[in-house]
Amino acid sequence: MIIDVALGARAYPIHIRPGLLGEAGALLSPFARGGRLALVTDEIVAGLHLEALRAALGDIAIEAIILPPGEATKDWRHLELVTERLLALGIERRDAVLALGGGVIGDLTGFACAILKRGCRFVQIPTTLLSQVDSSVGGKTAINAAAGKNLVGAFHQPAAVLIDPAVLATLPRRELMAGYAEVVKYGLLGDAEFFGWCERHGAEVLAGDAHAQVHAIAHSCRAKAGIVAADERETDDIRALLNLGHTFGHAFEAETGFSDRLLHGEAVALGMVLAFRLSARLGLCTAEDAGRVAAHLSALGFTVEAAALGLDCPAARLVEHMLHDKKMSGGRLPFILAHGIGQAFVARDVDLAEVERFLAGQLAA
Ligand code: GLY
Repeated sequence: MIIDVALGARAYPIHIRPGLLGEAGALLSPFARGGRLALVTDEIVAGLHLEALRAALGDIAIEAIILPPGEATKDWRHLELVTERLLALGIERRDAVLALGGGVIGDLTGFACAILKRGCRFVQIPTTLLSQVDSSVGGKTAINAAAGKNLVGAFHQPAAVLIDPAVLATLPRRELMAGYAEVVKYGLLGDAEFFGWCERHGAEVLAGDAHAQVHAIAHSCRAKAGIVAADERETDDIRALLNLGHTFGHAFEAETGFSDRLLHGEAVALGMVLAFRLSARLGLCTAEDAGRVAAHLSALGFTVEAAALGLDCPAARLVEHMLHDKKMSGGRLPFILAHGIGQAFVARDVDLAEVERFLAGQLAA
């Protein structure tokens, strides 16, 4: 299956097929120069998938840059290391670097390629559900800075995205769930019918059902491709809808130190529940819709009650975290709220005192 991201001169295909990694030679060999390809990955992904990719590429040599796994790798030091290594390998603008891994590898490699000789090509080969349905598509690349996550980066679209859903078989269930939150997001923000599909088939996606996984990934990528084509740089209140659940989620991630205590996708799941509950409280959507969102995520094992996180934290501090989010604009914090399932919108006039009272209630519930 091929989904096109229609961006004119920067258009690219997303290829989705179980087993694609082992058959990637035909798709990747046009990117090789002098019989070799540079690749960035991490130690865990290298152990799981690098040999399959080497075998698929036959005579084309892979020059692998293998980094430590984890969010801490998305920093200035590893950006320098990757960039210098790519320069030492003689990478030129028309070359393409392969990014094999999850969001950390994709974001870091993409940013290195954005600045290397003022921009060289790269190919995303995402290996987590979260990166397959979100971060590998759309060209957001970044590293973390002392002041916060993803604060230094560039829009730099990949030359292609290769998604092999079969690699999800080695992903821990918790990581699979974290990615699934972003799948549900596409239903909640703009496609009530797809949310209904998630209600019926979400458990199959998490159980490893290949057919359900391909459907979830393809639908998500098609939705994201449409959004990115319409608003590549998040200037028209269209791409911003992808931040549904992220403002509340960011507050909980910040409070838990962006640690394994709460994964990004877990924070987004809780954040989406809170965005719908706040929408219901403000009279924007029905309590039934908010209840449906919580019921679906809760049935699959997500934490949907802020109180269950066991945080010793006043609501005011969560609001304070939100104010440090990079989504702040002109001193105001846009919230993604909803008129119903599949009807998200950007709200710029939300009263933060009301948000604080709402959060106090959620923390005490
Ligand atoms: N992950 C949000 C976006 O790509 O815009």
